[in-house]
Amino acid sequence: MTNMSRRNALGTIAVGAAAVAVPLDAGAQTPIPSATVPAFAGSHAPKPLSFDATKLTGLSEKLIRSHWENNYQGSVKALNMVEGRLSAAMADKDLPPVIYGDLKREELHRTGSVILHELYFEQFGGDGVAKGTIREALAKSHGNFEAWEAEFRRTAMALAGGSGWCILAWNQYTKSLHNYWAWDHTNGPVAGTPLLVLDMYEHAFAIDYGAAAAKYVEAFMHNIDWAVVDARYKAAARG
Ligand SMILES: [Fe+2]
Repeated sequence: MTNMSRRNALGTIAVGAAAVAVPLDAGAQTPIPSATVPAFAGSHAPKPLSFDATKLTGLSEKLIRSHWENNYQGSVKALNMVEGRLSAAMADKDLPPVIYGDLKREELHRTGSVILHELYFEQFGGDGVAKGTIREALAKSHGNFEAWEAEFRRTAMALAGGSGWCILAWNQYTKSLHNYWAWDHTNGPVAGTPLLVLDMYEHAFAIDYGAAAAKYVEAFMHNIDWAVVDARYKAAARG
């Protein structure tokens, strides 16, 4: 067997720290991994709650636990499953594009859900009093802090009755702070680093407030740990 024919029959591809032998597509000569690739490892693990769910103001333990166990952890499991299917699909060149598109759309959707929910739960446990560099920056970007808060609440309420996320973000491209309206988990701001995220899906408040979204937004604001938001802002603005 010549060197060229050997390369056609068997290639190598780096998987993590190791290089493993993989078969090559004889026609396209594209490496097709026979083992799980890091991009589709499917090994996401749910993060525990970082606060005492019995101690929040106006948000019940039942609501928080239902949200964390069913919606967040459901997305973690789904993302792992989708990554497993994408890993298997790398060796299945006959999979129709329309089916592959379904997997890629779900990968984007579940990735957004996992990240946004982890940011959401991580920012609870505070007294809701804004402080630090982020308060000064928001006052500067919106005229005063109260004007920023009013616009944040207004953006959130624009999603009430539907679903989505209200996202305070540092836009890495424009170097500015904005409250963004995101229709779903895939609808994040381009070049935006999330600093404070408000889940406006009904599963985030219906157990406690039914359809009264404004009461939920009020309770949410009282439980923000602004030290977490401030740290996110400093890291994002540095980066
Ligand atoms: Fe949620």
